[in-house]
Amino acid sequence: MSGFVVWFTGLSGSGKSTLAAMLAAELRHRGVHVESLDGDEVRTHLSKGLGFSREDRDTNVRRIGFVARLLARSGACAITAAISPYRAVRDEQRRQVERFVEVYTRCSLPVLAERDPKGLYKKALAGEIKGFTGVDDPYEAPEQAEVVVDTGVETTEESLGKILATLEALGLVPALAGRRPRPRERAGRALVAPHGGELVDRFARGPERDALAERAKGLVAVDLDARAESDVEMIATGAFSPLQGFLGSKDYLRVLGDLRLENGLLWPVPITLAIPAALADRIAVGADVALRARDGRLVAVLDVADKWAPDLALEARAIGEAPSPARPVYLGGALRALERAAAPGFPRHHRDPRHTRALFAERGWSRVVGFHAEGPMHRGHEHVTKAALESCDGLLVHQVAEAAASPDEIPVEVRLRADEALLAGYYPAERTLLSIYPGVTRHAGPREALLHALTRKSYGCSHVLVGPDPEARRLFDGLAPGELGVQPLYFERPFYSSIVGGMATVRTAPGDTSTRLEISSADLRARLLRGETPPPELLRPEVARILVEAMRER
Ligand code: ADX
Repeated sequence: MSGFVVWFTGLSGSGKSTLAAMLAAELRHRGVHVESLDGDEVRTHLSKGLGFSREDRDTNVRRIGFVARLLARSGACAITAAISPYRAVRDEQRRQVERFVEVYTRCSLPVLAERDPKGLYKKALAGEIKGFTGVDDPYEAPEQAEVVVDTGVETTEESLGKILATLEALGLVPALAGRRPRPRERAGRALVAPHGGELVDRFARGPERDALAERAKGLVAVDLDARAESDVEMIATGAFSPLQGFLGSKDYLRVLGDLRLENGLLWPVPITLAIPAALADRIAVGADVALRARDGRLVAVLDVADKWAPDLALEARAIGEAPSPARPVYLGGALRALERAAAPGFPRHHRDPRHTRALFAERGWSRVVGFHAEGPMHRGHEHVTKAALESCDGLLVHQVAEAAASPDEIPVEVRLRADEALLAGYYPAERTLLSIYPGVTRHAGPREALLHALTRKSYGCSHVLVGPDPEARRLFDGLAPGELGVQPLYFERPFYSSIVGGMATVRTAPGDTSTRLEISSADLRARLLRGETPPPELLRPEVARILVEAMRER
């Protein structure tokens, strides 16, 4: 067989070198003559002295391309693995060799920043390295790559399988006789399945997205409010799996009355799209409408399958919160998202369900406990999450992203910083993950606790912590076995016990209230607002420092 070039491109840490080495080994095994040009290695000789300006990167890529061509001409398979961030110079290499296979190792910045084996993203995000690809230097993704592998989601074996299948399909390498062994199962145990079995993904991509975006411009537009923006994101990313869109009237009524969707699947809170009556008159069932974010972007297209005027009093009785009378008509139907409705404000902490799942799998976690946080974690939270960690592989701390409703509340960026300090100082490294939870608070009481359990399952949590709310516990306890698919772990309100000399609850400490220092988020906030530093029994000093300072600056 004559030679060819396999050109890997993708961000630093996206798996180019790993996959290139695996591919080289597999091809050698099949009798192919392989030579590799790895980016890091090339920069120690062939491109020694070159930096990371656009000119230097292009020179680097041209040199790699030149050698790869020579190798291909002499019958070898040349595998290259440099970031090669610019499309034009990559395409220039493609034009100069007959058989050229571009492999794009796609991976999101949050996953890369989390992996960060060389510690370079941390530095780049902190501004210590300038001009870092993907952070403050461009990466132009290929438009027509022969293979795209999603390395944040796939196992390396799966990605390698895709590449080999393409090389075989293009007739560049001989297929192995017989079936290829199935990709190895990682660590034996699997992550919990999303609710309904499959993780929903409602983002349109590539040409489909372009066509849809074009069409959206001609559609009637529905303006989203903050909650609806969040709902679109939760639906599109699969956090609300199995929902594909906003509920129709049948699902809506069944959810209110019975906490179930029409198909019988547990679902406690109606996810609905409310619109003004005048707008509803212009929208027909069966039509598509564009969904417009508050900043004016068209972010999704909704296929309107239902339109009805809900019984708002009934909804208020069931959920506890009265819907807005200014938007008395609901639209139901599946949606396709063009882009994120809400810009991810905290890239280092923003992870979709597929990202957290990929990270958990990578770390070999299967028993993962999810913790829903609306305030900074205090020592009570530390106590209960650690109790859970004693029998789980990992902890996902989900801080709600919602902007503070009142100036007395602690803003999410402060909560994240405080939690970072707590996790870094008092938990073993690699056993925790701090992320943003993009869902909004719905004031739906115990039903909301149930919703959180289901959404956390989408993110890959097998266990959830459920606080001391008797009604919520009754709801959880009343479910049929297996219906929830995630294990609730109940906890009592923790306090500092002077007898125990540490955090405890009524389940773990003797003594009466005189031996206890009670702890609550509301009390902590009140102390912080008064400018007090809460004692170390309630708040770790590193955490207290961050919160006191932030509240003082307000
Ligand atoms: S390329 O842009 O010229 O194709 P190449 O793959 O050779 O890049 O080198 C990338 C590697 O250099 C990265 O994996 C990283 O370890 C290191 N590096 C140092 N500075 C930068 C930077 N500013 N941008 C990207 N990578 C950098």
